[in-house]
Amino acid sequence: MKSGPGPEETRSEQYIAGQTDFYEGRPDTERGERLAAFIESMEAAAPPFLRELEKEALAEGIPIIRPRTQGLLRFFITMTRPGRILEVGTATGFSALLMDHWAPAGCRITTMEKMPARISQARANFLRYGAADRITLLEGDAMELLPQLEGPFDFIFMDAAKGQYIHYLPEIKRLLPPGGLLISDNILQQEELLESRFAVTRRNRTIYKRMREYLRAITGDPDLTTLILELGDGAAVTYRKA
Ligand SMILES: C[S@@+](CC[C@H](N)C(=O)[O-])C[C@H]1O[C@@H](n2cnc3c(N)ncnc32)[C@H](O)[C@@H]1O
Repeated sequence: MKSGPGPEETRSEQYIAGQTDFYEGRPDTERGERLAAFIESMEAAAPPFLRELEKEALAEGIPIIRPRTQGLLRFFITMTRPGRILEVGTATGFSALLMDHWAPAGCRITTMEKMPARISQARANFLRYGAADRITLLEGDAMELLPQLEGPFDFIFMDAAKGQYIHYLPEIKRLLPPGGLLISDNILQQEELLESRFAVTRRNRTIYKRMREYLRAITGDPDLTTLILELGDGAAVTYRKA
């Protein structure tokens, strides 16, 4: 049985000082770090079991969502009370467990991951925290899994290969009903997206081009309305118009 979210605590004493650079992306500027630490100290913290998992993931170098992104998910899940959540990019299950924690009773989560080592860790974590009956983990490449899914999913969290978001979008749109919410993480690419395309290293140029294309697609689609937030590594909140 899932125990409902308890009273919200703030993160102040749990903020893992000096560890922000372990999250995805390069370290923020000093001002950015201080601002994030201040805001995190005010926002409601994840429960102790998730903080434990967060510490483990950071120690192992698993790229999990940053604290501000955790807050973003907490807020929108509490507000929209989804019945079915889809996540693309499970890693070891941290964000799936966080969404499960804040979701209303009866909510089911489907998440997908392609790396075998992470899949087995995620399965173990879902069992360890009593969520295996609410979270379905699909193994494989999202490009192949997404077309096999039946919607609707009223809440979708996109957190996999950044260069693939644009390719996932037609399937995501098929699965997202009117009134549904799509949250896409890491859309600013550690601010590299702000640079001229010539200043971007050759390795990152394709991701850069595809992410710009993705942002143009989700902001220009008349069925969608999108808010781009400078939060964590950049997040886009997209609402499918009802
Ligand atoms: C940033 S991590 C996800 C972190 C996770 N959402 C969390 O915060 O706990 C991205 C994950 O997506 C997975 N991934 C990347 N491309 C994928 C694909 N095409 N299909 C399935 N999983 C993919 C990676 O192996 C990686 O574990």
